[in-house]
Amino acid sequence: KAQGRLVVVSNRVALPKQTATGGLASAMRAAMRERGGLWFGWSGKIGSDTGRLRRVRDDTVEYVTLDLSRLDHDQFYAGFANRALWPLLHYRPDLVDYRREQLEGYLRVNALFADHLVQMLEPDDVIWVHDYHLIPLAARLRARGVKNRIGFFLHTPLPAAALLIGLPRHQALFETLSAYDLVGLHTARDLRALEDYFLHEIGGAMRPGGRLRGPDGRSFRAAVFPISIDTAQVVQSAREATHLDEIAQLETSLQDRALIIGVDRLDYSKGLPERFRAYDHLLEHRPDLHRRISFLQIAPPSRGSVPEYRQIRRELERLAGHINGKYAAPDWVPIRYVNQSFPHSLLTGYYRTARVALITPLRDGMNLVAKEYVACQDPKNPGVLVLSRFAGAAAELGDALLVNPADPAELADALGRALTMPLRERRQRWRAMMDVLEKQDIDAWSKAFLERLTS
Ligand code: UDP
Ligand code: G6P
Repeated sequence: KAQGRLVVVSNRVALPKQTATGGLASAMRAAMRERGGLWFGWSGKIGSDTGRLRRVRDDTVEYVTLDLSRLDHDQFYAGFANRALWPLLHYRPDLVDYRREQLEGYLRVNALFADHLVQMLEPDDVIWVHDYHLIPLAARLRARGVKNRIGFFLHTPLPAAALLIGLPRHQALFETLSAYDLVGLHTARDLRALEDYFLHEIGGAMRPGGRLRGPDGRSFRAAVFPISIDTAQVVQSAREATHLDEIAQLETSLQDRALIIGVDRLDYSKGLPERFRAYDHLLEHRPDLHRRISFLQIAPPSRGSVPEYRQIRRELERLAGHINGKYAAPDWVPIRYVNQSFPHSLLTGYYRTARVALITPLRDGMNLVAKEYVACQDPKNPGVLVLSRFAGAAAELGDALLVNPADPAELADALGRALTMPLRERRQRWRAMMDVLEKQDIDAWSKAFLERLTS
């Protein structure tokens, strides 16, 4: 059994009563609900006094957040984390924009987090750090004398070592992972990449018992923990959502047309232009489907301070306009493209209404939307999940229709097949996926990680 208070540290914090867009915030909110503890991170605001912490308590969780200064925000968050690390980790070296002063800002904010954290820690706290914003945090804490167990979970993919070494000063950054006791990743592919990087690129070694040793001599464990959802809660929420006005309104607007749904932060890793092109391809080749389907793409804007995100947004506006202009009729709009976020409780109702979910990231750590969609289905008449092979979720949800998102024709075929899949097959596939989600829910995930961390 995991001992001591749990201290979670992440850049993004799911503060009470706020819509948590993003897998980390969704999942950790669910995980913290069960376990309780302290959650420390960025307030989401830019302010001038970065020395002042804000504290809120909600039931079993105490939230402690700090504002970032404009410079820290620009260099750490909008800079190194989201213009160098995020594209690199999502296999997009072409989009990496590395600048030394941004790396310095990134290290400075990690040191700032460490300074605040050491003041709050108690000797038997278990510290759990999340995601690519905070890779060097444990090293900074160790340098300040922290002896507690410290775990790290990476919510993104970890790309092949050959890509990682393209990042300037990669070793100085990634070798600090050895300051953790346990490093968790979503899939076996990510773990292989980490081992390969340590063993073959930076002079680490494999120790007996499967621990990795870094070039600095420190050793740590690395293992696979596929993140998940609060399955029982999501199932219940989808059932309750059937009574919401918004769901009735959506159904009325559909007029018996089959709903295809996509829900993604507006991010270039999500394969949205490819998805829109595949939908275009389908309408082009299947005139019989015109007026019989409707595609709802929910895409809340994300990281608008990063230029690549503004650009993908413009591209999608153009594509959506193009497709609607080409195929729409006075009483039919092929794509409903919505740049807005929705509370989880309402989303679960939208998922349940949809005949097909089209979830086709080019790369994704896990993709919780895929799991949520499955959990929200009506067991008597479940919808079909079309899922990218390159989402971490594909490793567990092999009963989805798996596609390569880069091929519009393949995607369009899968979508066509999903729309006409017989009830029997839909039920079989859904049951197999649901078995996984019932067993591997968010509590199983956090318990497995924390048990390994504290054993
Ligand atoms: N989400 C939400 N409202 C929205 C859009 C998304 O609550 O309008 C949630 C969604 O239900 C899921 C999470 O945000 O829990 C997205 O996680 P995922 O792993 O799919 O992708 P990420 O955003 O982390 O890349
Ligand atoms: C992904 C990342 C998270 C991040 C989320 C939302 O899920 O792995 O670390 O919180 O996207 O992005 P944002 O930049 O708004 O926190």
